[in-house]
Amino acid sequence: TVPLIADVDTGIDDSLALLYLMASPEAELLAITCTAGNVPARQVAINNLAWLELCGHADVEVALGAEVPIIQPLMTTEETHGPQGIGHAVLPAPSRSVSPRHAAEVWIDLVRERPGEITGLVTGPLTNLALAVKLEPELPKLLKRLVIMGGAFNYAGNTTPTTEWNIAVDPDSAKIVFDAFSVVPTDRRPIVCALDVTERIEMFPAHLAELARAAGSEPVEQLSADDVPGTRSTASNPVIRHLSDAVRFYFEFHNTHDQGYLAHMHDPFAAAVALDPTIATTRAATVDVELAGTLTRGQTVADWRGMWGRAANADIVVDTDPAEFFRRTIERVGSLARA
Ligand code: BDR
Ligand code: CA
Repeated sequence: TVPLIADVDTGIDDSLALLYLMASPEAELLAITCTAGNVPARQVAINNLAWLELCGHADVEVALGAEVPIIQPLMTTEETHGPQGIGHAVLPAPSRSVSPRHAAEVWIDLVRERPGEITGLVTGPLTNLALAVKLEPELPKLLKRLVIMGGAFNYAGNTTPTTEWNIAVDPDSAKIVFDAFSVVPTDRRPIVCALDVTERIEMFPAHLAELARAAGSEPVEQLSADDVPGTRSTASNPVIRHLSDAVRFYFEFHNTHDQGYLAHMHDPFAAAVALDPTIATTRAATVDVELAGTLTRGQTVADWRGMWGRAANADIVVDTDPAEFFRRTIERVGSLARA
């Protein structure tokens, strides 16, 4: 099994990442921590509680974390993820509330309880993890492995020309985390899933239809660019219905931005890597974050050739097989929805 803590800013693709984790038999979900990013942290918490309850995992601790980045003001992106962060989906209100513990405390307590065992996954800004490593500097050594969705290396940004969203929201925290993890042994370097590879994880309506079929949901709808934006799913299966309503918004967003009627599944890919790093080909590099550039603040810079004379602190994903990722997603999330 893979004991895991996930820190998320749910988020449409974070939602599918959560479903993937819940659907994976090898995942031992210890806690979900919430950070501000796509939407405010309190909304993230509601979304996480709601997805967990919908999928029969209401026993997993959900902890609220930082409501603002460590230094700069919060920016959110409802235009990308919908007014509540879950696209057009309207999930049933959760029946429970968040944990009394702060997200950073949860990370610290859990890694102290199970040193060297836990995989950490972060699919939002790195604020909570930065707070946690400031409170417990041993945290990088106590984690088994950290997997991050964030950054853009030899690739255009999606937030500014040089920055990826999760890093751009809180660059100071990102730098704290990359610096803090420079102490871990080479076989435990953080795995970084950046836009260079996550924009190759393109979900199309056909994938969603296959997933619905795998879940035995009727009717199986084939969403299309010709649909009236905001059309709601009539699928009988609640997980499939809500997921379709969420992902439709993401299709519409990407379509509006001339990327086609598809969606980049950044965070679910990172979740799949956290459970099985062998699906990713990585290359070691020293990563730092630009904090002072007037045009480039938040840019992730990779030193691939050791020019800085500093040890590598990241394994950057440089290749994967997107079809294998979708095969796993359809099989796993399909059976979760069927259950
Ligand atoms: C990242 O930004 C967010 O909007 C997504 O959830 C993903 O984590 C991609 O840049
Ligand atoms: Ca995210």
